[in-house]
Amino acid sequence: MQLIHTIAELREALSQYRHPAVVPTMGNLHAGHLALVRQAKPLGDVTISTIFVNRLQFAPHEDFDTYPRTLEADCEHLEAAGCDIVFAPKESELYPQAQTFKVHPPTELADILEGHFRPGFFIGVCTVVMKLLAVTQARTALFGKKDYQQLMVIRNMVKQFALPIDVIGGETQRNEAGLALSSRNGYLTPAQREEALLLSRTLRYIVDTVRQGETDLARLEQEGMQTLRAAGWLPDYVAVRRQSDLQTPLAGDAKVVLAAARLGTTRLIDNMEI
Ligand code: PAF
Repeated sequence: MQLIHTIAELREALSQYRHPAVVPTMGNLHAGHLALVRQAKPLGDVTISTIFVNRLQFAPHEDFDTYPRTLEADCEHLEAAGCDIVFAPKESELYPQAQTFKVHPPTELADILEGHFRPGFFIGVCTVVMKLLAVTQARTALFGKKDYQQLMVIRNMVKQFALPIDVIGGETQRNEAGLALSSRNGYLTPAQREEALLLSRTLRYIVDTVRQGETDLARLEQEGMQTLRAAGWLPDYVAVRRQSDLQTPLAGDAKVVLAAARLGTTRLIDNMEI
């Protein structure tokens, strides 16, 4: 496996390949990322993982400075998962000057749910993903479904810009108790890791209840918020949406329930398709 830090070196290394399959990450990798790398392997002639903590997608009060940087351990895991190239640029390499050209996703997709509570987040994500897709010459790119809205925003960006890239979603990986794997789980104390199960249990309850025929989705959303609040969480949203565009679903639409909530100082997100 090659570890590459500059765009020039990456271009050189990629000159012999026609179909890079790329897994963009911010590092601090867990089994969910590694599953994406394994999923990517047969989809291209070279498997690349990018590791870059993207300042553009963090608000000033968020955890950009403390986000764990674990390059050495990440590379060991990536090599074991069959990754061929790790592209880990410095900030000055990817943003040699202020990134004043940015990708602005449409408000109806990007200013709801996560985008409502993290204004500008998807501008930062789209801008860096566009750049990473360009420098890695990706023909296939994989993103985890745990960031459901992110996957949808990126899929639509790639489609509208007619990029010759297949965007593939990877299933959310969970621990044996059901907690969705996330780099931010590392912020939780052992006691909080137990408490964190309430998020997936709340979503599971909503999935099961809707599947049993409940149609009052607003009531279920409120109940979900209330369950989290009663246990001391600060929920941002619990929302049942249409899978295709994350708008309010009509009867018969394929649905997904999404939630974001703060447990102590850690903000966790999760979702389940219904
Ligand atoms: O999901 C992430 O880790 C990041 O948002 C991404 C897609 C790598 C862009 O920085």
